Amino acid sequence: MKILAISGSLREGSSNHNILKYLSTLVPDTVDYQIYKYLANIPAFDPGLDNDTPPPSVRQLRETLAQSDAVIICTPEYAFGVPGQLKNMLDWLVSSSSLVDKPVMLITASSQGKYAHESLQLTLGALTAKLADETNLLIPFIRSKMDGEGNIVDEEVRKSLDKAFNTFINGIT
Ligand SMILES: Cc1cc2nc3c(=O)[nH]c(=O)nc-3n(C[C@H](O)[C@H](O)[C@H](O)COP(=O)(O)O)c2cc1C
Repeated sequence: MKILAISGSLREGSSNHNILKYLSTLVPDTVDYQIYKYLANIPAFDPGLDNDTPPPSVRQLRETLAQSDAVIICTPEYAFGVPGQLKNMLDWLVSSSSLVDKPVMLITASSQGKYAHESLQLTLGALTAKLADETNLLIPFIRSKMDGEGNIVDEEVRKSLDKAFNTFINGIT
């Protein structure tokens, strides 16, 4: 069982990346959990290049997803929307059907995050990914819920992450 975890933030010390690192501590031994490191390498989406030989980073992403049983997306909101590089990545996945029927846990951890969270549900719905209300989490005021080292210090947030992640794992194993 393989899970690919993708952070929508490229920022060093990102809260979203820290959430994905926290989830890695909950992963059972039977599950291989990888945090995707190459989001910054995905080129701007060009439908003219979206063919059998796409750019190498896109090919690699599609292959990694084909080998993954489930995906976690954890992202902030920028300017009331989905971070551009994450949306750009998802645009490359429309034609490849990489997320069709794939279980996706969606976490939006941001100052507010409501618009990105809703928008991503629409986009992932268009890609026919498998989303579930119990594993969709919106975490507002995220920065105040972490300490300087990126540890989650808010007990409620930790509990909701634990619960949603366990539900997700139980659904795919
Ligand atoms: C350019 C920019 C725009 C932002 N716009 C929003 C926004 O519209 N809504 C929101 O909830 N947070 C917004 N934020 C705040 C981010 O949610 C916050 O910085 C968050 O911690 C980023 O996630 P990260 O810690 O994983 O990098 C914005 C941040 C930046 C840098």
